Amino acid sequence: MLVARSQTIFHTHIHKSYYLDVDHMNQTFAPKVDFFDVVQSISKALDYAFPHIVSHHVRVAYASLRISRYLRYDRQAEANCLIAGMLHDIGVLYEGHSGEDAQIDTGDDCHARIGYHLLKEDAIFGAYAPIIRDHHSFQAGVTLTEHIPIEAQIINLADMIDPLISDDLDMVEQRAVVKNKLEALLAEGFPPYMIRAYKRLILQDDFWLDLRASDLPVILKQQVKRFEIEFNAGLLVAYAQLMAHLVDFKSRFTSTHSSGVAATAEYVARIIGFSEVECIEIQAAGLLHDVGKIAIPNTILEKADKLTAEEFERVKAHAYYTNKILDVIQGIDRIKTFCAYHHEKLNACGYPYSIPGAQIPLIGRIISVADIFTALTEDRPYRKGMDEASVRSIFCDMVERGELDNRVTRVLMENYPAINHYREMAQQQAREGYTAFINRIQENQLGPTGMDRIPARLMSDTEAKPTVWEM
Ligand SMILES: [Fe+2]
Ligand SMILES: [Fe+2]
Ligand SMILES: [Fe+2]
Repeated sequence: MLVARSQTIFHTHIHKSYYLDVDHMNQTFAPKVDFFDVVQSISKALDYAFPHIVSHHVRVAYASLRISRYLRYDRQAEANCLIAGMLHDIGVLYEGHSGEDAQIDTGDDCHARIGYHLLKEDAIFGAYAPIIRDHHSFQAGVTLTEHIPIEAQIINLADMIDPLISDDLDMVEQRAVVKNKLEALLAEGFPPYMIRAYKRLILQDDFWLDLRASDLPVILKQQVKRFEIEFNAGLLVAYAQLMAHLVDFKSRFTSTHSSGVAATAEYVARIIGFSEVECIEIQAAGLLHDVGKIAIPNTILEKADKLTAEEFERVKAHAYYTNKILDVIQGIDRIKTFCAYHHEKLNACGYPYSIPGAQIPLIGRIISVADIFTALTEDRPYRKGMDEASVRSIFCDMVERGELDNRVTRVLMENYPAINHYREMAQQQAREGYTAFINRIQENQLGPTGMDRIPARLMSDTEAKPTVWEM
């Protein structure tokens, strides 16, 4: 992990002469953040990825919560339904399944297995991986027994009903359409007691009104007890790493980009004289800066030819989406700013906010320089990584045009070999992680009756993670 590597490599490289006038953070590091907000930032990212089924995740979470309440499962199961519901299709993003034409929940459980692999080692969301793995078990032909987590069965049902929910139908039509589907599912073998539960729910007006409400995330948040997690170094980087995976794993061409930016920014920041905790914050910002690219279709991100003006406009919007996704989490304003401004220029010719340099914090300028450096030196779909002379020349031109911070660029240029080596190492490590992830998926280690299936009611005992959330 980046944290461990950085502690061993840097002390010999820092030269006093590079110490700049650093605006050190004066707020407490490790802010306490609301766990619901953290989850919501992911469901918001998924909304951006699938604009044609916006709010799918919060609707499935809400319906799952209501089903679990109706069936009188305990509060742990309710919480699991809500959190896993908001995350359940997280595996769909893998290798480009995003954009207007993306299919979601088409029947097979491939994305459920991918979601499991994305989350199972995760320090924050690992406990929810088995639920996500099984949320399409019924479509995959698995008989729903006690070996399938009950939360997965509930989400499975809510997920199959959700595409039928439409603002174009009046309440009577809506109830009839859903009732027909429930009867069909019953005939296909879905557990009768769950079908009965959903049939009762559809009779309740408040259920439909909530499901169609524009402030459904607020309604959801009101249903649950406030649960804070401390975004210490480990959890902050874990969150940032997961978000980086979501966006980077969309395409093998970008599968290591965020890691390269994080490593470059961290190295530059250490030379400049930022503290250990600030460097962790910078690492996190490096990992998170491009998360808004989740909203950009791969046809554009992977395009080998020059982008059209319209395509470029769409790409430019990603920093805005990054800001919106992170905006959901109260308490990480500094990181949000560093990420949101990573395409701003000192001469106010950047995007999307076109703010002048005076408003761009030093760390934001570092992320910006690190992003350009990584983009130039890594291989892209349309060219190999550039050589040192070409990179130096581009940076020289950008500084001359008043776009980049001269001092930050000087630190980078004067330490070029060491920083480039560190970036390469970080991207190599990320590449190995990506390859291992793909191999796990392709080996398909978890068959429908695989050994790693666990009885639902034991889930919180057997897969205890620091953030299993109780309501
Ligand atoms: Fe799904
Ligand atoms: Fe879904
Ligand atoms: Fe970017």
